[in-house]
Amino acid sequence: MNSKIVILAGDGIGPEIMDSGLTVLAAIKAQCSHEFTIEKQPFGGAGIDDAGASLPEATLAACQTADAILLGAIGGPKWEKMTDTPEKGLLALRKALNLFANIRPVSVSSALLHLSPLKPEIIEGTDLIIVRELSSGIYFGEPRELGETMAFDTARYQKSEIKRILHAAFTIAQGRSKKVTSVDKANVLASSKLWRATAEEVAKDYPDCQLEHQYVDSAAMKLIQNPKAFDVIVTENLFGDILSDEASVLPGSLGVLPSASHSSDGPSLYEPIHGSAPDIAGKGIANPISMILSVAMMLRQSFQEEAAAAAIEAACDTVLKQGVFTSDLGGQASTTEFTDAVVKELTKK
Ligand code: NAD
Ligand code: IPM
Ligand code: MN
Repeated sequence: MNSKIVILAGDGIGPEIMDSGLTVLAAIKAQCSHEFTIEKQPFGGAGIDDAGASLPEATLAACQTADAILLGAIGGPKWEKMTDTPEKGLLALRKALNLFANIRPVSVSSALLHLSPLKPEIIEGTDLIIVRELSSGIYFGEPRELGETMAFDTARYQKSEIKRILHAAFTIAQGRSKKVTSVDKANVLASSKLWRATAEEVAKDYPDCQLEHQYVDSAAMKLIQNPKAFDVIVTENLFGDILSDEASVLPGSLGVLPSASHSSDGPSLYEPIHGSAPDIAGKGIANPISMILSVAMMLRQSFQEEAAAAAIEAACDTVLKQGVFTSDLGGQASTTEFTDAVVKELTKK
């Protein structure tokens, strides 16, 4: 079968780590039953520069007919003050493809235990998944206004939107240790009160699973204090954004966390959880693991290439255990040196 993967390399370190992701994909392709056609499209700041829009029409059309989409990262100071921004393009793409379920797994390899600022005994064995609602909430709610002396946003959720992300979280939990932690601010926010009540309702469909609720402020603390207490965390758009960057302190760097975003029917999108890292862009030192693991998630979740996905994950782990680290993890390996080491593992006879 021939499948189309649309590539949105984006800005900053986006193209650098996308090269790594595609190099690894090329190295594993002989072990896949699918054949892949790669189609590169301008997006984000690169979309503004090359095609006059952060989400050019042709890019959206290509994504809509893709079997999967790989995204590097977008954004940067160059486009910050424009009317159209890379971030607007990203939100428009998520909305247009109805990508409501953003899956952000966080685990800590034994090779990284000593690199986290947290004590090894706290993070050892951490294995959790943040299920972030991605297509609604305060990111999209109307009305919104930016005035000279006053500004506001609207944190709006439809019950149907809460239900579908809760179903996604429980379904994932059923394949794991069957525990869902729903994170909200139900002691203050109306949208969170509806979220909590809906979570209780959806939980009745999953009697084999346990549901607990936590307020987001205390969840932020417990995530660092005792990460092993979490299995599946489900939360609204903004809380999920913040908690997942916080969770990257567990493995020691934002540069190692991948994600998958799903809709109920169309193509899924795979991207690192981090941004375009303008502070290190162009230096060839970005950690490509987040992108490489996003490729693995794509192979598993969009193409059912479980063996290839597992091989990529194992190869990354082996390379870390060999002591090859990029500078975010205190090492000296360049992006390409790390990538080449992964390819070497994958193609070893
Ligand atoms: P960032 O995630 O780009 O960077 C935060 C810090 O983490 C920086 O010090 C950076 O060097 C480091 N970092 C991130 N990824 C790394 C990697 N792979 N290897 C090594 N170090 C890495 O966040 P920011 O600096 O707040 O934002 C920069 C731009 O990225 C902004 O324009 C923002 O809007 C955008 N952004 C885009 C996405 C996305 O494309 N999905 C996500 C987050 C932020
Ligand atoms: C992310 C990013 C985006 C978000 C920004 C760039 C719009 O932080 O993918 O986590 O807030 O969702
Ligand atoms: Mn983010």
